[in-house]
Amino acid sequence: MKKNKVLITRKWPQSVEKKLQSLFDVTLNIDDKPLTQQALRNALENYDAVCPAVCDSLPASVFPDSNQRCKIIANFGVGFNHINLPAAQQSGITVTNTPGVLTESTADLAMTLLLMSARRAAEGDRLVRSGDWQGWSPSHMMSSDVSGATLGLIGFGRIAQAMARKAHFGFGMKILYFKPSPADQNVVKKLQAIQCPTIEDLIKESDFVSLHCPGNKNTYHLINEQNLKLMKPGAHLINTSRGDVVDTQALTNVLQNKQIAGAGLDVYEGEPNVDPALIALENVVLLPHLGSATLSTRTAMGEKALKNLVAFFNKHPIPDKVI
Ligand code: DGY
Repeated sequence: MKKNKVLITRKWPQSVEKKLQSLFDVTLNIDDKPLTQQALRNALENYDAVCPAVCDSLPASVFPDSNQRCKIIANFGVGFNHINLPAAQQSGITVTNTPGVLTESTADLAMTLLLMSARRAAEGDRLVRSGDWQGWSPSHMMSSDVSGATLGLIGFGRIAQAMARKAHFGFGMKILYFKPSPADQNVVKKLQAIQCPTIEDLIKESDFVSLHCPGNKNTYHLINEQNLKLMKPGAHLINTSRGDVVDTQALTNVLQNKQIAGAGLDVYEGEPNVDPALIALENVVLLPHLGSATLSTRTAMGEKALKNLVAFFNKHPIPDKVI
């Protein structure tokens, strides 16, 4: 029987690529070079399945008007804001994602950013490397306490809850959360978490605000000039969700004016381009979208995408169907 043609847009962990090769007629991206919009359009025309990731933008314009061969987009990642779902639906294409397996690694990275921003870790590292460090002094590079501080989570899904567990049980932090729909009360009770009626209430009370909502039109610039101004002067903003949840210009302004103490970012508007004004600042930690970047997590994400493909082509129930 002829194998289904599958395109993997970027390099995946080797063990998963090997499994894919045993099951499908796979085209891999050995050089890991990003595909152009035209290449993505060709892929939808010529492959039975396309497996993109957050770095591949699939707007309506890449979906062929007719005659596309692609029947499934098996995304390597949980977020799918880079895929135009109505266009996929119109083309009769199933879309899947990889929820669950990147929860702990992403929450670990959010904690990393929180600790780095609080304790000025990136700035300190730069100072030592520069050779300009003059030695210990009682008033040198003072920073913010993490233990016992208040963490406000915007969004209270899997990753936010994992971060809350680490922060509460590891660092004795008080947990606040904002979530428009009801949260699991068992989780809330265990964490002694307090629900805030509005984002503004949460922001005013928090020493650290961490973003865990999906990227979509409802969350675009959810953090903006108005609510950034409500943050405590010693507070930090942490973003491991999507870049456009934050108005970058507004954040840059409050950081430049030292209206907040710092920020820790893993995601950016228009990434991989990062606003030079942000890069120029000392009081922001900038990581290159590393949330899920551990070998075991990336392998588990690949395995999930693979399972979705296998289920789809065998006409079995699809584990992680988005549409
Ligand atoms: C996701 O899965 O959506 C992450 O942002 C990439 O790991």
